[in-house]
Amino acid sequence: MKGELLLLSSMIFLLQGACGCPEKCFCHSSSNSVDCSHRGLAEIPPNLPPETLTLLLQDNQIYQLPAFAFRTVPRLKTLNLSNNSLSELVPEAFHGLQHLEVLNVTQNSLLSLESRLFHFLPQLRELDLSSNNISHLPTSLGEPWENLTVFAVQQNQLQHLSRELLESMPRVRLLLLQNNLWKCNCHLLGLKLWLEKFIYEGGITDGIVCGSPDTWKGKDLLKIPHELYQPCPPPPPPLPPPELVFSQARQHDSEQGELPKSPEDHNVGRHDISECMVKPKPRPANLRHAVATVVITGVVCGIVCLMMLAAAIYGCTYAAITAQHHGRASAQTSESGKMGGKEPFDSLPA
Ligand SMILES: *[C@@H]1O[C@H](CO)[C@@H](O)[C@H](O)[C@H]1NC(C)=O
Ligand SMILES: *[C@@H]1O[C@H](CO)[C@@H](O)[C@H](O)[C@H]1NC(C)=O
Ligand SMILES: *[C@@H]1O[C@H](CO)[C@@H](O)[C@H](O)[C@H]1NC(C)=O
Ligand SMILES: *[C@@H]1O[C@H](CO)[C@@H](O)[C@H](O)[C@H]1NC(C)=O
Ligand SMILES: *[C@@H]1O[C@H](CO)[C@@H](O)[C@H](O)[C@H]1NC(C)=O
Repeated sequence: MKGELLLLSSMIFLLQGACGCPEKCFCHSSSNSVDCSHRGLAEIPPNLPPETLTLLLQDNQIYQLPAFAFRTVPRLKTLNLSNNSLSELVPEAFHGLQHLEVLNVTQNSLLSLESRLFHFLPQLRELDLSSNNISHLPTSLGEPWENLTVFAVQQNQLQHLSRELLESMPRVRLLLLQNNLWKCNCHLLGLKLWLEKFIYEGGITDGIVCGSPDTWKGKDLLKIPHELYQPCPPPPPPLPPPELVFSQARQHDSEQGELPKSPEDHNVGRHDISECMVKPKPRPANLRHAVATVVITGVVCGIVCLMMLAAAIYGCTYAAITAQHHGRASAQTSESGKMGGKEPFDSLPA
C-alpha cells in the first residue's frame, strides 16, 4: 500500500515533469494559463506547457529575450512581460507567435522598436508599450497591422509619431499617447490631422500634450488652431555627391572665381546637379557657352542692323525731302530769273 502510494506520487511527479510546469510557476490547466509572475526570474523559464494560452511573466527581472524565445508555446494568446528589465527586443523574439493577441511590455527599459518586430505578430489586438524609455518608433510598418485595436505608448520619450505608422493600423480604436516629449513643430501636423479624423470616426485617445517648443508647451495638440499651425516648408534638396561638388566648384571657380558656401546656394547647387546629370562632362558646358555667345552676338547684330536700317531710311527720307525742296527752290530760281545765289536758301524754313 505504502509502496503503491509512493509509485503513484512519483508517477504524478514524472508526469508533471514531462507535461511541464516550470518549477517556480503555477499552472492552471483548466484555463491553460501559466503564472510565473513575481518569481525573481532572469529569463524565460524552461518546460512551459505547449498548450499554454496565457503566460504571466510580470514583475520579474527578465533582461533579454533570445530569438524564438516562445517557440515551445506556439498557441499563446496573452503574454505579460510588464515590469521587467528589457532594454531591447530582437525582432525574432516573438517569432512563431502566430496567435498572440495581447502583448504587455509596460514598465521595462525599451529604447526603440523595429518595424520587423511587428511582422511576426499578425493577430495582435493589444500592444501596451507604456512606461518605457522609447524615443523612436518605426515611421511605417510596411504592411498593415490588420487586427490591432489598442496601441499604448504612454510615459515614454517620444517626440514624433508618424502618420504612416498609425495608418498601418486601420482598426485601431484606442490610442494612449499621454506623457511623452511631443515636439509640436510642423512635423506633428500630419499626426494632428490624422487624430482629428480618428476622433471624428469614433476613436478614443488621451491626446497629445506638447512638451516643446515653448509656444505650445503644455498645450493640447488637438486644440491648437489650424491657422497657427503651419505645415513644414519643403525639405532642402540633398547636397550633391562629392565628385559633383568638385566639378561644380571648378565650374564656379572658372566662371565667377568663388565657390558656393552657404545653404542659400542650394538652388544653384540643384541647378548644377541637374545639368551635371544631363551633361556630365565639362565640354558640353563650353559648347553651351559658345551657343550662348552666338545667340547674344546674333541679337546684338540684329539690333545694330535694325538701327542702321532705321538710320538709312531716315537719311534717305531726309535726303529725298531736301532734294524735293531744293528742286522746287531751283525751279523758283530759274523762274524769277536773275536772283542772288543765296536767295533760294532764304525761302527755306530756318
Ligand atoms: C516590479 O517588480 C518588482 C519585483 O521584480 C516588485 O518589487 C515591484 O513592486 C514591481 N513594481 C510594480 C509597480 O508592480
Ligand atoms: C499584466 O500584469 C499587470 C500586473 O503587473 C496587470 O495589471 C495586467 O492586467 C496584466 N496584463 C495582462 C494583459 O495580463
Ligand atoms: C499591461 O499591464 C499594465 C500594468 O503593468 C496594465 O496597467 C495595463 O492595462 C496592461 N495592458 C493591457 C493592454 O492589458
Ligand atoms: C485578424 O483576426 C481574424 C479573426 O481572428 C483572423 O481571421 C485574421 O486572419 C486576422 N488578420 C490577420 C492579418 O492575421
Ligand atoms: C532613457 O533614455 C535616456 C536617453 O534617451 C537616458 O539618458 C536615460 O538614462 C534613460 N532612462 C532610463 C530609465 O533608462
